[in-house]
Amino acid sequence: MLKGKHIIIGITGGIAAYKAAVLVRLLVREGAEVQVLMTRAAKEFITPLTMATLSKRPILVENFNPENGAWNSHIDLGCWADAMVIAPATANTLAKMACGIGDSLLLTTYLSARCPIAVAPAMDLDMMAHQATQQNLDTLKQRGVMIIEAESGELASGLSGKGRMAEPEVIVESIRQLLGRKQTLAGRRAMVTAGATMEAIDPVRYITNHSTGKMGYAIAAELAARGAEVRLVSGRTQLPCPKGVERVDVVSAEDMFRACCAEWDGADIGVMCAAVADYTPEQVSPTKIKKSDDDMCIRLRRTPDIAAELGRRKEGRVLVGFALETDNEQVNAQQKLERKNLDFVVLNSLRDKGACFGGDTNKVCLIDRQGEQSFPLESKARVAERIVDKIEEILKTK
Ligand code: C5P
Repeated sequence: MLKGKHIIIGITGGIAAYKAAVLVRLLVREGAEVQVLMTRAAKEFITPLTMATLSKRPILVENFNPENGAWNSHIDLGCWADAMVIAPATANTLAKMACGIGDSLLLTTYLSARCPIAVAPAMDLDMMAHQATQQNLDTLKQRGVMIIEAESGELASGLSGKGRMAEPEVIVESIRQLLGRKQTLAGRRAMVTAGATMEAIDPVRYITNHSTGKMGYAIAAELAARGAEVRLVSGRTQLPCPKGVERVDVVSAEDMFRACCAEWDGADIGVMCAAVADYTPEQVSPTKIKKSDDDMCIRLRRTPDIAAELGRRKEGRVLVGFALETDNEQVNAQQKLERKNLDFVVLNSLRDKGACFGGDTNKVCLIDRQGEQSFPLESKARVAERIVDKIEEILKTK
């Protein structure tokens, strides 16, 4: 499988860089063509001569050669590669990747690469456990980057904990997976709603909710990684659009309803993850409402139920809904399943710590007509995998 494949190995400045030598050797032995990119710091840990000898190609560090001006095009490298793996990936490089910073050839190549990408983090245990590093890893995962988990054990610092780079053999196995990631949803079209809607009161004020869109964005990313063509109908959120996903921005529940109805005809899969306002002001004041000494009353009217409308026009498609409950969870979720004609409901309860709004984790229970399956507290990316696994199962029966 690796024979003739073009693989970029990016090496950053950590002590685990010495293991990259073994990694490159294993890949070359399997017949892969390996191009090594190093950061300047990486050269302090392992010599370019070692890496060039093992990869049988000159290694690249700078955007251009200062001696003769020869240009190392990150764009060409990005197009050449079938897979790019950054091993070891330091906390610094992971942070730059998450932020889109391109201050080295390795980073600009990452930003231009069209191929699947993996990172093998390696650092001291406290750096690994730091919220910033964990958030950066989560961001990258959401964007479709494969994380080759670090192992626990003795670290170069003398401390012991999670931070050792995965062994080269494990990384080679991950590269095989990366290259062979099954495009099980190729040819399928999916529509995902995410984020919060905003219902205007006047040009200044609006009604909204706490949804950040993270769960829906993770699902869109997972569907796209499996080859589906994904439209993400998104309300208010701060999140970047996942790789390979087409985003349709909307503001109000009414806008979301219109966008979803338009997209639904060509879709095979619908995942209704958005926190849609159930009520909207009956009238939007064209000018800012002035305060007076009296209390005020805003009359609200019902918004259309998007999931229910799509459920009425389901015809052989898979439709998934969410239920965010604070009490009587199971019964409410079951009712939603029927009322909206859904294939299954993803139930999350505000009573569970670490679940729901804003965080990077969720604890869900998938409920269908056959029964229910509960999962522990997991990253939203992992929860997205579980939801998409179930969608695939149902598609097979349609
Ligand atoms: O009825 P309830 O709002 O509790 O149902 C939640 C589910 O219905 C979610 O999947 C949500 O995205 C969807 N929904 C919708 N349109 C609405 C309200 C909720 O699609 N107006």
